Amino acid sequence: MTKLNWGMIGGGKGSQIGPAHRLGASVDGDYSFVAGALDHDPEKGRAYAQELGISADRAYGDWREMLEGERNRADRVDLVTVATPNATHYEITKAFLEAGFHVLCEKPMTMTVEEGEEIVAVAKKFGKICAVNYGYSGYSLVRHMRAMIARGDLG
Ligand SMILES: NC(=O)c1ccc[n+]([C@@H]2O[C@H](COP(=O)([O-])OP(=O)(O)OC[C@H]3O[C@@H](n4cnc5c(N)ncnc54)[C@H](O)[C@@H]3O)[C@@H](O)[C@H]2O)c1
Repeated sequence: MTKLNWGMIGGGKGSQIGPAHRLGASVDGDYSFVAGALDHDPEKGRAYAQELGISADRAYGDWREMLEGERNRADRVDLVTVATPNATHYEITKAFLEAGFHVLCEKPMTMTVEEGEEIVAVAKKFGKICAVNYGYSGYSLVRHMRAMIARGDLG
């Protein structure tokens, strides 16, 4: 399979969830991590992206700069992960979907139901995937618990 070009917004140095995404993506081997606006501090974000192997021209200081930088590249990112604080998810996710990128947005996708419904509508309109990683549903203990409840062992 051809690797997907992948970018990240947020998930900078010292963040909680950014490393988990990068580790998870590296397990599959299906992604090339090629672009990022990783930090609210532009200089830190640029420096850390390059530390992680992203080329200088795609180590962005800001997500809007990344959107403009990636939009017209022939090798532009196929998808972005949004791993910024909750209140920023709506604006960033919407902008990337509207520019034709698939988005994996950290939970919660938005701060209100209305914003969430708008994101669903935008994703449909532009024919792009907007995924949210509810990772805990995949935990083996949660699955085991579900099976126990279904069997009548619990609950
Ligand atoms: N799925 C899960 O299990 C799980 C677990 C933890 C956190 N989260 C979610 O992940 C998101 C991030 O959480 P965290 O704990 O990693 O936060 P964090 O505060 O540790 O890290 C946030 C990162 O985003 C960067 N950032 C902030 N504003 C930015 C902007 N405008 N542009 C670019 N980068 C920006 C910060 O510099 C930092 O690097 C939250 O939405 C949180 O709810 C999900």
